[in-house]
Amino acid sequence: MAHAVVILAAGLGTRMKSRLPKVLHPLLGKPLVGYCLDTAFASGAEKVVVVIGHGAKQVRQTFEGYPNLSFVVQEQQLGTAHALAQARPVLAGFPGPIVVTQGDTPLTRVETLTGLVEAMQEGATGMAMLTMKLDDPTGYGRILRDEHGEILGNVEHKDATPEQRAICEINPGVYCFDSSLWEKLAQVDNQNAAREYYLPDLIRIYREAGQKVASTASKDTGELLGVNSRAQLAEVERILLQRLRAHWMAQGVRMIQPETIYLEPAVELAADVTLWPGVVLRGQTRLGEGVEVGAYAVLSDTTVEAGGRIKSHTVCDEAYVSSGAYVGPFARLRPRAYLEEGAHVGNFVELKNARLGKKAKVGHLAYLGDAEVGEESNIGAGVITANYDGQQKHRTTIGKRVFVGSNSVLIAPVTLADGSFIAGGSGINQDVPEDALAIARERQRNIEGYMKRKRDDGR
Ligand code: UD1
Ligand code: CA
Repeated sequence: MAHAVVILAAGLGTRMKSRLPKVLHPLLGKPLVGYCLDTAFASGAEKVVVVIGHGAKQVRQTFEGYPNLSFVVQEQQLGTAHALAQARPVLAGFPGPIVVTQGDTPLTRVETLTGLVEAMQEGATGMAMLTMKLDDPTGYGRILRDEHGEILGNVEHKDATPEQRAICEINPGVYCFDSSLWEKLAQVDNQNAAREYYLPDLIRIYREAGQKVASTASKDTGELLGVNSRAQLAEVERILLQRLRAHWMAQGVRMIQPETIYLEPAVELAADVTLWPGVVLRGQTRLGEGVEVGAYAVLSDTTVEAGGRIKSHTVCDEAYVSSGAYVGPFARLRPRAYLEEGAHVGNFVELKNARLGKKAKVGHLAYLGDAEVGEESNIGAGVITANYDGQQKHRTTIGKRVFVGSNSVLIAPVTLADGSFIAGGSGINQDVPEDALAIARERQRNIEGYMKRKRDDGR
């Protein structure tokens, strides 16, 4: 019988000191609760319910379009048991196991969720939970056990006596219940320090109903860390980054000073990729075999085919770099920059919605926007496409084997046909025919002896 997963995510997260709801805080570019959702679905959940409250609209919008996902709203945050009770209308008739996780615990593994379902079934009981030993259990609920090791209950940090606070076994907030959950949940009250309905009180309620609470212990302290503060978010991020780097190095990626390299979960790297220190790879960036990325380059949603090269301090956003093409140092590729095989973009060059044909070159200090450059053309230093007239964008079309001399302004819309040559310093606002030479600047005038006369006059 497949299970359902309820994710509790209605809290504000006061300790984050932020306007953003806690569960939307980005962890390697993806909202915290997104990790919980992905884990829930990967565990084979038939249904996933997210309990939202603070920033409900924002949370709902972020995850629009996920199939088999429902949201329920907890209007007032009266505690974790109250939060879970909000899912009852959606899951009341659901016959299978119900796994409950917290939206602020993003590193929980898929096997941990499925293991808990198994533990409940093997224990032939109605409740199972995870536990974990921590060197510093501050802030967590402590697990109370009897002399036989059976779980008796949980006491929240703020309700605990000094002796109870010395207990290192904690409740990480991951549970599994059978469908008797809803009737048991109705028995939870709010007689405690926080005047909240505590979900872990279900332990006592199940025991009073004559059932044991099954438990599995996790040894991976990383996987159950809750994010309540910025420092904990940074710690979780550190752990996740470490996992990602280790994963890709095992796939054949070379990282120089790996601890300085930032990469997000959707990034894909092939074997023999080399990443120099300080590289940042974001979103759906894909690097093919043997790609080298120089120090401090920042690539977002960018593809570099096998053998492409990105030199240091280059910034690419939604760009495509074909094999044998090379970019930078200090280049900027903006959305829809597309380099065909062997094309080159050099230092201080910006491309936006521009396509460079095979072996086309833009070596230095240029801006190409809304442009197309044919194969083997050469764009000189300081060339600018004037693509914007203050109201509309216009295209510049440059054919094959065109030479555009340095510091020319190409005033779009304009077409330079194959084989044409633009003299340096030209302001081009008319089409140039095939194989023509275009010069569009003042003719130079030399005035003989002028400077000598000036100097002589000055005496
Ligand atoms: C909770 C547990 C504690 C456990 C710890 C593990 C309770 C009472 N305590 O404490 O035993 O050690 O998690 O991380 O359950 N939420 C709601 N509605 C509410 C209150 C909370 O949706 O009314 C959500 C929050 O958004 C959060 C999760 O439940 O995602 C946990 O709430 P939080 O306040 O962080 O609980 P902890 O104090 O960490
Ligand atoms: Ca928490």
